[in-house]
Amino acid sequence: MQSKNRQFKLASRPNGLPNDMNWSFSEEPIPSLIDGEFLVKVKYISLDPAMRGWIREGKSYTPPVKIGEIMRALGVGEVIESKHSGFAVGDFVSGIFGVQAYAKSKGDMVNKVYPTIAPLPVFLSALGMTGLTAYFGLLDVGELKSNDTVVVSGAAGAVGMMVGQIAKLKGNKVIGIAGGKDKCKYIVDELGFDAAIDYKNENVKQALQKQCPNGIDLYFDNVGGDILDDALSQLAMHARVVICGAISQYNSTTIKGPANYLSLLVNRATMKGFLVFDYSQKFPQAIKEMAAWIASGKIQSKEDIVVGIEKFPSTLLKLFSGENTGKLILEV
Ligand SMILES: NC(=O)c1ccc[n+]([C@@H]2O[C@H](COP(=O)([O-])OP(=O)(O)OC[C@H]3O[C@@H](n4cnc5c(N)ncnc54)[C@H](OP(=O)(O)O)[C@@H]3O)[C@@H](O)[C@H]2O)c1
Repeated sequence: MQSKNRQFKLASRPNGLPNDMNWSFSEEPIPSLIDGEFLVKVKYISLDPAMRGWIREGKSYTPPVKIGEIMRALGVGEVIESKHSGFAVGDFVSGIFGVQAYAKSKGDMVNKVYPTIAPLPVFLSALGMTGLTAYFGLLDVGELKSNDTVVVSGAAGAVGMMVGQIAKLKGNKVIGIAGGKDKCKYIVDELGFDAAIDYKNENVKQALQKQCPNGIDLYFDNVGGDILDDALSQLAMHARVVICGAISQYNSTTIKGPANYLSLLVNRATMKGFLVFDYSQKFPQAIKEMAAWIASGKIQSKEDIVVGIEKFPSTLLKLFSGENTGKLILEV
């Protein structure tokens, strides 16, 4: 064991994109345990667009990280010391461990994970929060049918790539919207999407008209802003619009809402937001099903792993510049 715990704390709230000044890096003693606690050596840290929301002042689904607190983050690691009856040394676990190398826990919202089923980073990806977001967002919130025309934005990212693959697996036509030629080629050639729209180089509205001549039955929105409006303009009758996220708006002080919302009225469509954590009771069954799909090669997981906890501030920014393909993870 190293003698110090390396951690990132929130130093100030960003205005726009987070920068180095918003974080403080420190080396602290490794925490000692009392009865009912265990110590996790964190191996992989999940970097998520939600982190931008967690450091914003104001009302949300969870209280903001306070100034001076360890930055909130999901992670996976190994139990290396335990005074807890439910977790033994050598167990692998996932939980909200923060951006730090060692975390002590009482076991709240901690799950055991099994590297015999999949490599550890996959438990932050297809078999973790983002895979589950795709699963429940598509199948439950979006009420996916067969023969739907499904459009997903952020299509080469962690959630989007799973949405597209699950929708294909269920026999639907899938169009992904992503930034740049390489990502578009990847989702069609490697992941089996029917078509891709490069929002950085194409007119999205026109491309959706071309790719979805009978309209969009299910739009899974990860980005918000203009792309949401373009999708709204091409809805089919009784379409479902799933509001998963709006990354294009996360660093803005004013959120751009949809102008084309009357398309919901015209098409008797629905638009619904959701939070994956509301489905936590159903996670084990979903993970089992997704693990079987991965094992049989029906879907694939992709992680974009950056090594070095000290690279946290710059790596987080990749989510907003679009430099990640698949699930962005920091290896401690
Ligand atoms: N509701 C829930 O419970 C829940 C749970 C997890 C995630 N989410 C949401 O799901 C979305 C995707 O999350 P993720 O973890 O899978 O991230 P991700 O897609 O792996 O990474 C973010 C991607 O967003 C794209 N992007 C960044 N800025 C953009 C912009 N201005 N316009 C369009 N695209 C932009 C980039 O791809 P390009 O190169 O294609 O631009 C980037 O790679 C986020 O909105 C997140 O908040 C919601």
